[in-house]
Amino acid sequence: MTYVLDRIWQALGDATSEGTGFTLGILATIGVGGGPRARAIILRKFQPAPARIYFATNVHSDKVDEIQEHPQVALTLQDGSVQLRIQGKAVIADDAERLTAWEALAPHSRELYATAGIPGEAVDETAERVEDPGTAFQRFAWIRVDLEHLDWLDLAGPH
Ligand SMILES: Cc1cc2nc3c(=O)[nH]c(=O)nc-3n(C[C@H](O)[C@H](O)[C@H](O)COP(=O)(O)O)c2cc1C
Repeated sequence: MTYVLDRIWQALGDATSEGTGFTLGILATIGVGGGPRARAIILRKFQPAPARIYFATNVHSDKVDEIQEHPQVALTLQDGSVQLRIQGKAVIADDAERLTAWEALAPHSRELYATAGIPGEAVDETAERVEDPGTAFQRFAWIRVDLEHLDWLDLAGPH
């Protein structure tokens, strides 16, 4: 049991420090109007005790409203023959934690928040794209997921 947990901690550490198949996950939430919602997110940070993972998002994205209404989330990661399923409670980080995360973010990642467009909304391709790097931080949200249940499956091993 401890062996599996060690492997999970190692895999999550590698995913956030060097980039692996586990770096990109599929996060599922409960839609505000009901029904499941799922989307790709990048794992940005992991800490083992207490067990938490973190990701960045746009504060105006649907997932932020969904997490506020239903904090229980599921995250599926897959790397080769290995799948890790996580259930947990998502928490929108406070301003102090948000600022620390923003300062650690690479410039090219910060640029993603320069556009005033709302993620997931239809794009008007005829309209001029509005970029405002000065207000990018206002659109940045930092989400913590407290890990509550883990399910590790390696199809290459006994299962
Ligand atoms: C490779 C890839 C990585 C992505 N990483 C993130 C991410 O880290 N955070 C995020 O909010 N959206 C990320 N997205 C975009 C989401 O999948 C999604 O389209 C967007 O966040 C809007 O989702 P929502 O309307 O369900 O909130 C990523 C998309 C792709 C294709």
